[in-house]
Amino acid sequence: MSLMGILDRVADVSAFDKAIEPARKAVQGALKPGAFKDFLHGTWLGHPLHPVMVQVPVGSWVSAGLLDAIPRMRPAATLLIGTGVAAAVPAALSGAADWSEQEVGVRRLGALHAVLNTAALGLYVGSLAARGRGRDGWGRVLSYAGLGLAGGSAAIGGHMSYAQSSGASHAATAVRGLSTDWIDLGPLDDLPEGRPTMRSGKGGSMAVPLAVVRRGARVDVFVAACSHLSGPLDEGTVETVRGSDCLVCPWHGSAFDLDNGEPRRGPAANPQEKLEVRMDAGHVLARVPSRHR
Ligand code: FES
Repeated sequence: MSLMGILDRVADVSAFDKAIEPARKAVQGALKPGAFKDFLHGTWLGHPLHPVMVQVPVGSWVSAGLLDAIPRMRPAATLLIGTGVAAAVPAALSGAADWSEQEVGVRRLGALHAVLNTAALGLYVGSLAARGRGRDGWGRVLSYAGLGLAGGSAAIGGHMSYAQSSGASHAATAVRGLSTDWIDLGPLDDLPEGRPTMRSGKGGSMAVPLAVVRRGARVDVFVAACSHLSGPLDEGTVETVRGSDCLVCPWHGSAFDLDNGEPRRGPAANPQEKLEVRMDAGHVLARVPSRHR
């Protein structure tokens, strides 16, 4: 079994949930849905914020590890360790916000990721304290131990992103199954007004569900799998969210602007894939955008 394959076994251990679920409820209680939580998700950025935020502590701590190996650079290493400690707090907050809205296997590995990061942070705080008392040798031992833990934890975070698709756009994955030709979605007059309905998009070996919204003569067509966790947007609602007409996911309430697919409310941080649309003899035709052709 590969090293990272072991993590999939860990993600299967349901016994962890007894400890994880109360922690998740506590995070959801502290970070209620709203503007601050959406800020932490990265909804305003159109990209998950957590991988952006972790650059500062990871970069600071790796750099400190290098500088600590050069005696005259050790004061700079201490400064970088302090920078990493300060930056770890908002990075952890954004990670906790995402983690609380993920599926169960991601939550299990995410809990391990958080425990290791917390331990690494404690070692770095201990390192700063030791350095402050003039015990530089201990300070270096503690910070190198912290770097080892933070590195292992970063590998788990990478597995969550790449193998478990925790921050990936599930809509971008689904859109790749569609034909690159114009797809006939049927007559405009057959579409209900002001609410999403499902149409099948032609794919290579299977149909791809699309969420179609008609507003008068205007039609907006999206991949039905929500960018957050593949919820069925064709079963969602059309609502005004933060001043924009949005398609709202029935699973966790993410709202996507009908005009451009940008997220207006989280937990989604990635945009929703929107198709090009044209009319032909009263029929609605849709096609994947050129970035996918
Ligand atoms: S699947 Fe989570 S908001 Fe759509």
